[in-house]
Amino acid sequence: MADPAAKQQERLAALLQEGRTFPPPEEFRRQANIRDVKVYEEAQRDLEGFWGAQAERLDWFKRWDKALEWNAPWAKWFVGGKLNAAYNCVDRHARSERRNKAAILWEGEPGDSRVLTFGMLEREVNRFANALKSLGVKKGDRVAIYLGMVPELAIALLACAKIGAPHSVVFGGFSAESLRERIQDAKAKILITGDGAWRRGNVVPLKHHADEAIQGAPSIEHVVVVERVGKAAHAAMKEGRDFWWHELVAQASDQCDPEAMDAEDLLYILYTSGTTGKPKGVVHTTAGYLLGVSTTHRMIFDIKENDVYWCTADIGWVTGHSYIVYGPLANGCTTLMYEGSPDYPDRDRFWSIVAKYGVNVLYTAPTAIRTFMRWGAEWPAKHDLSSLRLLGTVGEPINPEAWIWYHENIGHERCPIVDTWWQTETGMILISPLPGLTATKPGSATRPFPGIEAEVLDERGRRVGPGAGGYLVLTRPWPAMFRTIYGDPDRYVNQYWSRYEGKYFTGDGAKVDEDGYFWLLGRVDDVMNVAGHRISTYEVESALVDHSAVAEAAVIAKAHDVKGQAIAAFVTLKEGVQPTEELKAGLKQHVANKIGAIARPEDIFFTPELPKTRSAKIMRRLLRDIAEGRVLGDTTTLADPAVISKLKQQYEEEGKGE
Ligand code: WTA
Repeated sequence: MADPAAKQQERLAALLQEGRTFPPPEEFRRQANIRDVKVYEEAQRDLEGFWGAQAERLDWFKRWDKALEWNAPWAKWFVGGKLNAAYNCVDRHARSERRNKAAILWEGEPGDSRVLTFGMLEREVNRFANALKSLGVKKGDRVAIYLGMVPELAIALLACAKIGAPHSVVFGGFSAESLRERIQDAKAKILITGDGAWRRGNVVPLKHHADEAIQGAPSIEHVVVVERVGKAAHAAMKEGRDFWWHELVAQASDQCDPEAMDAEDLLYILYTSGTTGKPKGVVHTTAGYLLGVSTTHRMIFDIKENDVYWCTADIGWVTGHSYIVYGPLANGCTTLMYEGSPDYPDRDRFWSIVAKYGVNVLYTAPTAIRTFMRWGAEWPAKHDLSSLRLLGTVGEPINPEAWIWYHENIGHERCPIVDTWWQTETGMILISPLPGLTATKPGSATRPFPGIEAEVLDERGRRVGPGAGGYLVLTRPWPAMFRTIYGDPDRYVNQYWSRYEGKYFTGDGAKVDEDGYFWLLGRVDDVMNVAGHRISTYEVESALVDHSAVAEAAVIAKAHDVKGQAIAAFVTLKEGVQPTEELKAGLKQHVANKIGAIARPEDIFFTPELPKTRSAKIMRRLLRDIAEGRVLGDTTTLADPAVISKLKQQYEEEGKGE
């Protein structure tokens, strides 16, 4: 009898055979929101008509005059229209039959939970919007938010939107220094944080980080603190500057008129890593963004009135902004928020949540799926997952093995999978199956969404043929596209729109197959993707050279089974510094302190010299070859080819930098 592992391998190979596709199950197709393939053709023919028709689903205080004004690379959508994002996400539902429907289902890590109906959410948002006003926040003022995944995080976003104060959410895992940098760039007036956050039963000291960040961030006038952890957080409040959230809202009225925002008014800023050390403030505006995220959410996740929808991302990232808060709530959909880690208290936490709330649509990341694979199928098998009818993934390319595992062990071969490609900059999903229409292929994000036009180009801007790799670009504007980089319009133009005149350069490699399906191949720039998080090599390098022992550092991403990529750093020490194991550990911690734990290098490797070209450019490509154990690529441009061969030998002898 063949052993089970070999059998499994054989079956997988058969499933993944060239050309194997997964058409929508008949039962799913029949009930799907989008069943007619004409949607692609219609949007292609009349882009403004397509989005204009979708825009009727939003509530407008004043109708727009013109759907699109496009002077590449500058876009204006729904010119002349007036609306409010929070009104669309909350108030209008609270005034309808949805009043007593769950808007947010919240599950705390320690096991506590909270349900906010649309009616309750409206009152909470209004109270906090009034609290912000009482602290002097006016339309246009920026508000920084640094919180764990508590309901107040969603409430804070919506309260900002209600009064027209753009928010800038900073992921709660970032360091004080990263927070400060972002506060300073946006010149935020208010910081909303927590006493602490729960993570695997431990306390993340948010307030301590916040206090440290504010030193040197004079724009902050007040700090609002959500009490989550209590005494264990040891948070200190500064008289006159700091206020408890619960005390502020206790005094605030639950009535608040929405600010009538211009379609193009700033909704939020979200910082992301680019190809320099300095994070970029990606700017999203009101109408186009809300329309883009709500339309894609409804069509791609096939949302039905009574669905429970769960996106497992953190609201600190764009996925949480678009597909936990704005998209679902604009659609009047019940959105689930989970505070903690997937292995707390045990490795079946996600599956117990799916069973507890009867989750219908689950949206998560390949890195999570690979982790679950490693933990074993027995964990999901313990729970009733029969409520699930659709699965999604985002954040990085999904390897076919993980896709099949997800399909079999979570979807029980019944749920279509939507592999969704998009970016902080794009605001909304741009390449994805429509689950009632598209036959999927494991590992492919399939086709551009209706109205989206994507191409794969070579260096010189020519379209490459089927199966050949190239650069992914977008050639037509879309409503949720970012409008600029905050305070740096030149960077917007140069970085995204100049490589190919008038086309948006995504920074991703891709290929298109014979059926017109897109296969994403990862970043082609110096952005790494570690467990679905964007980190620039330069950020980590600057953090390393900031350490007193370091002379020079080169950082690369190397392939990693679970995280997709892991950070490896090649470090040259200053004269006289000893390359010890303690120093390695110290450097890793230093990077974590400077940026956040997500940027902690997996490997650090000490080397007397780094491979450089004659013009002194570090050849990261060769370092990647070394770290991934490949034969070295072309070394002819090196100033001293001996450096790299010595380095390779040393790396192999020392056992991969560990
Ligand atoms: C990568 C996250 C392959 C890609 C929404 C992109 C993906 C970067 C996919 C954006 C996918 C995201 N397949 N790669 N389905 N989704 N990516 O800004 O490299 O955090 O450029 O936005 O993630 O990351 P960001």
